[in-house]
This record gives sequence, structure tokens and C-alpha cells, in this order.
Amino acid sequence: MPERIARITVPEFAGMKHQRRKISMVTAYDYPTAAVLDAAGVESILVGDSMSMVVQGHENTLHVTLDEIIYHAELVGRAVQHALVVVDLPFPTNHLGVHKAIEYGGRILKQTRCQAVKLEGGAEQADVIRGLTAAGIPVMAHVGLRPQSVHVMGGYKVQRDEERLLEDSRAAEDAGAFGIVLECIPAALADKITNMLRIPTIGIGAGAACDGQVLVLHDLIGLSEGHSPKFVKRYADVRSVILDAATRFRDDVRAGAFPGPEHSYK
Ligand code: KIV
Repeated sequence: MPERIARITVPEFAGMKHQRRKISMVTAYDYPTAAVLDAAGVESILVGDSMSMVVQGHENTLHVTLDEIIYHAELVGRAVQHALVVVDLPFPTNHLGVHKAIEYGGRILKQTRCQAVKLEGGAEQADVIRGLTAAGIPVMAHVGLRPQSVHVMGGYKVQRDEERLLEDSRAAEDAGAFGIVLECIPAALADKITNMLRIPTIGIGAGAACDGQVLVLHDLIGLSEGHSPKFVKRYADVRSVILDAATRFRDDVRAGAFPGPEHSYK
């Protein structure tokens, strides 16, 4: 019996722009958090290469491998019933030629229950976006600040090259992308791109005019360490919650107050 797909599909996701329904997208890397995000009703979950930083503790997103992202995408894909699940093509898989990109994107769709891939790039990735889409692998593009190119870009900076950003966005849409992430660009420029494109724009540090917004889960719930970029809004302080619970557990164990009779078997 074929599995019934009740998830938001790629065409439904793309159609939300025309229905003027704002799209929320959050990253997830494991089963329980993906299940909670899905229960919250976010329209899309991204298995982002940000896991290299927020889960694996690296200084940038370059370190996560294809096998690692597939493993995490399997965990997320198993949990999600409703949201559209998108998986990042990790560095440098989309730069190895169209055939390699299809092989790797194909592995992601075959081995996980995820529905689409995301890749960083616009005009220079048009042939890859076209090839993946033709192979039945839906693609979300990602322009503006491209964290996988941090060394070329010289850091995590707001991207202001209007001509290039317009060209990249148009090229991604023309090549068949069904959506596009706009990262760290001025709000007025994101507004212009959003009005220019037929596909939804998903902003992160790109202002309110985008068709949707994406945040990294650990930033949103207050579990990341150190400095937060200006565009992050923390909706909770989960680090404090875990710190407090673990500290009280430690104190109880030291004092012999845990386990109590109610936690013990007769
Ligand atoms: O990897 C990621 O989490 C991302 C988002 C920041 C869009 O690409």
C-alpha cells in the first residue's frame, strides 16, 4: 500500500505566495525537535548545514558531510507529517557538476523522507538547479549571504550588490527553483526581489516583505552560544531551562534527594 502523503507538497508551498499566505520555516536536525516543530504548524522544516555549527560545534557550515546530513535528514523525515522538508546540499556537493549533484540529491530523496534540496547559489548554479529539477529533485535556491562561501565573502556580512542579487534570483527562478532563501540583504532589496519573482522568497535577515521567514532552531529557542546576529529573535531561553534542570538534578544527586521513594521500585 503506498504511503499516504499528507505533507505540504512543493507545488502547494510555491502556491502559498499567490494565496498571500506567509510561510514559516525552521531548521531541525533530529526526530523530537522536528516532531515539535511539525506539531506547531510551521509550513517547512529545513535540515540545514547550520548543523555543522549548532549541532557539531564547528566554526562554520563547511564541515558537515553528505552522509551526516543524510543521517539527520532521516531522523527529521521520520518525524514530520505535515511540513515540507528541505535538506541542504552540503559543501561542496553542488559544485562537482550536474551529474554529481543529481547523484547526491537523489541519495537524499531516496534515503530520507525529505522532499527537496536547497543549494547556495544563483546564476552560477543555474545549470545545477536545472539538472536537479529535470531529474525530479525540487530545488530551493539560496542567495545573498552564502555561508558556504564565507572565505570568499570575507565573513558574514550584509550583501548589497543589487545587480548581482537581482540576476542571481532571476536566474534561480528561470532554472526551475521552487523557492529561494534571501540571506542578509537590505529589506528594500528583498522587497524588490519578492515583487519580481513568481516563486516564494524566504528571508533570513532580509526584512518583512519576503513571502516567508526562516530561522535556525537553536537561535529561535535560545540554545545557541555567543553573539546572535541582529536578525535573530529569541522566542525562548532553552539554554537556561536546561542549565537550571541539570544543576538541580546534580544538587539532588549530591544531596541524596534523588531518587526518592516515588522513583524507586518495591
Ligand atoms: O543551514 C541553514 O540553517 C540555512 C538557513 C540559515 C537558511 O541555510
